[in-house]
Amino acid sequence: MMLLQGGRKHPVNMTMIFYSHIFRGVLKTVGGVAAAIARGKAGTATRWRDRSQDNRAMRFCFSLALALTASFFMTTTATNAAPATDLGERLAACTACHGTEGRTINAEYLPRIAGKPSGYLYHQLLNFRDGRRHNAAMTHLLQPLSDAYLRDMAAYFSALDLPYPAPAVPKASADVLGRGEALVLRGDAARKLPACAQCHGTPLTGVAPAIPGLLGLPAAYLRAQLGAWRAGQRRAQAPDCMGEMAQALTPADIDAVAAWLAAQPVPPHNRPLAAPSAPLPLRCGGVSP
Ligand code: HEC
Ligand code: HEC
Repeated sequence: MMLLQGGRKHPVNMTMIFYSHIFRGVLKTVGGVAAAIARGKAGTATRWRDRSQDNRAMRFCFSLALALTASFFMTTTATNAAPATDLGERLAACTACHGTEGRTINAEYLPRIAGKPSGYLYHQLLNFRDGRRHNAAMTHLLQPLSDAYLRDMAAYFSALDLPYPAPAVPKASADVLGRGEALVLRGDAARKLPACAQCHGTPLTGVAPAIPGLLGLPAAYLRAQLGAWRAGQRRAQAPDCMGEMAQALTPADIDAVAAWLAAQPVPPHNRPLAAPSAPLPLRCGGVSP
């Protein structure tokens, strides 16, 4: 109901926006995504890049081109038949990349968006649109959209409650996984490094409204995001507590936390906690006062 009202508030036909933006931008977009992925999204941190990642990026971009073209034809057909009235229908362009109903289709790189805290998703859409986070496809799609529309899209994807796939079998050694587990759950007092769980919640499923969960994300995506923050390529609203955290981590720490997190199953009750159980160890823009 709320979604339909949200749709009425925004008479702009999203299908037409995607028609012009996706199709015109498809080559540019795919090129941009390819470049971003080939760079490992870690900016200067090329250490995370390897040949197999480049090959995966090539295969991914090829399937992406197909997916976007398919989505384009589907949405165009829908427009010819009848104007799309449902927000979910109009967001078909998003799910071409992010997977049906916002579940990721690419186990390696694309983040799932279904079920994440609404405030967190909204902040990411603002971050891409306003240049704090960089991805050519995302920025291109979001540039013409209002804050209110971004908020409605965030609410839509946040409300989806879909099962998570089983975690990948870890490739890292027991030592690396142990180090990752310690940093995530306990931090490192000697280095004054708070535990990830202090902000992301003890079950690591996030805290409403704006802190995301850390489970159910592929290791490559986690490494790329932490690397991007460390290199100043991804930013959140100031004060950017995640930027401070990522800069305090070494590349080996990042590998360890990403390997351990990606190997954990998502618990059956995976909704974000309603509130943090204690004050956050750092101030986070858009989250804590
Ligand atoms: C061409 C493929 C593509 C399309 C189409 C696309 N996305 Fe994305 N999206 C991505 C990629 C790649 C990332 C990760 C970028 C990065 O590394 O920061 C991303 C990231 C995101 C994130 C951040 C997720 C997180 O956990 O931080 C959100 C939210 C999102 N997209 C929502 C959307 C919405 C809503 C749409 C439709 C308007 C959309 N996307 C369309 C490729 C796409
Ligand atoms: C002081 C609080 C705080 C601590 C400690 C913290 N985080 Fe975060 N984290 C956040 C906030 C807030 C966001 C959302 C940032 C935004 O809006 O872009 C976030 C976002 C993230 C994301 C992005 C998720 C996605 O889907 O793209 C990752 C990955 C992440 N944190 C990993 C970690 C790891 C690993 C640790 C421990 C080493 C950690 N965080 C410690 C507050 C924290």
